[in-house]
Amino acid sequence: MRTQYKQLDHLLLEHQHYWRFEPFHASQTLEHRFTHTELGTWLDGLSMSDVQGFKQDLPSLLSQLTEYLPQLTELTQFCQLDKSALTSLTLDSHLSSGIPGRKLSQITAMGSQALATHHGSEWLEWCAGKGFLGRILAHHSQQAVTSFEWQESLCQQGQLDADKQQLPVHFVQGDAFACDHQSVFNSNQHAVALHACGDLHVSLMQHATQYQLPTLSIAPCCYHLIQADRYQPLSSLGQQSNLALSKTELRIPLQETVTGGERVLKHRFLEMSYRLGLDELLRKELGFAEYQPIPSVKKSQLQLGFEAFCQWAAERKGLALPKCDFIHYQTLGEQRFVRMEKLSLIQMAFHRPLEMWLILDKALFLEERGYQVGLTEFCDKKITPRNILIHAVLSR
Ligand SMILES: C[S@@+](CC[C@H](N)C(=O)[O-])C[C@H]1O[C@@H](n2cnc3c(N)ncnc32)[C@H](O)[C@@H]1O
Repeated sequence: MRTQYKQLDHLLLEHQHYWRFEPFHASQTLEHRFTHTELGTWLDGLSMSDVQGFKQDLPSLLSQLTEYLPQLTELTQFCQLDKSALTSLTLDSHLSSGIPGRKLSQITAMGSQALATHHGSEWLEWCAGKGFLGRILAHHSQQAVTSFEWQESLCQQGQLDADKQQLPVHFVQGDAFACDHQSVFNSNQHAVALHACGDLHVSLMQHATQYQLPTLSIAPCCYHLIQADRYQPLSSLGQQSNLALSKTELRIPLQETVTGGERVLKHRFLEMSYRLGLDELLRKELGFAEYQPIPSVKKSQLQLGFEAFCQWAAERKGLALPKCDFIHYQTLGEQRFVRMEKLSLIQMAFHRPLEMWLILDKALFLEERGYQVGLTEFCDKKITPRNILIHAVLSR
């Protein structure tokens, strides 16, 4: 893992020109960072349907891009994870009731792996939500589960459901960053965390290693949800890295989302092209030199058209828009949307390598603290793109 991390770190730094930018902002000019290169010529020549095709077919995209960036092959190899343990539990209907479809698939897949690799005589479910995973672990192992969660209402609902099913689950309401950790952690627990965001999964690793928990199964997500301005590497190797990912860059791996259908694509096109069109309008008509962030917008608002969107946004920003050619700016927005989508294709090749870099830093941290660490994909990417499981067993 150390060698893999070092090589990944080196390749990411060497290729930073290809991923360290924001396609939304980079779409502003006709000439872009790849113009006057073979890669740029290839990119400019793509039709929008080519772009859509590649967005939904990463292997084809990588095979094309490798012609221009040969080291992508090596980078991609570092992202290959064991999928052999892809299994899932079959649940009685009373256990699965109330769990939404995709969440249920994630939980049964992760639960199955946690049970198969279980060491410990009880469980700690970190950032439990309503404790779906904890209930399944309690049912299958008949061991006690402490479900730690911040939101009081989720704790109450979760406790109610567990009690109804007569499961040995005990909810503890608390703040991961300001609780009496000694009363939450103990050295008999196998800790599980499904999609605990940024600092939350980091705090689990720090406390679990301190209290010498025998096993950890963590599926991280939302790497950018951290207090610090930049990613704070945990492992000693990570601390030597020069990558220094900013919060914005920590969002890059999360761009890899489950692709939606026609309706989702259409909605994204409208929203992004309107935002980009308005950016053009504000720069040219009102002389803004910087992008003005606009709050999130309802679908129904977008359906009223570009001009109505601009008026709505201007009201929120306390701006008065001049009389101008809205159709012209809408067209500029649509052209920028195409450029943005093309530029983001290049960055797409680096989503998973960046995520692997983050995951390996965490894995190395656990290794340094005496754990044997394995990395797997616990479910298919279609169920959730955040499908990497860090599994660590204390070996001394
Ligand atoms: C993405 S959800 C995951 C929930 C659950 N594990 C699941 O997969 O359904 C993250 C959970 O972390 C909880 N959370 C957020 N901040 C927290 C904190 N400071 N301490 C404890 N839990 C927190 C949220 O309330 C939320 O339930």
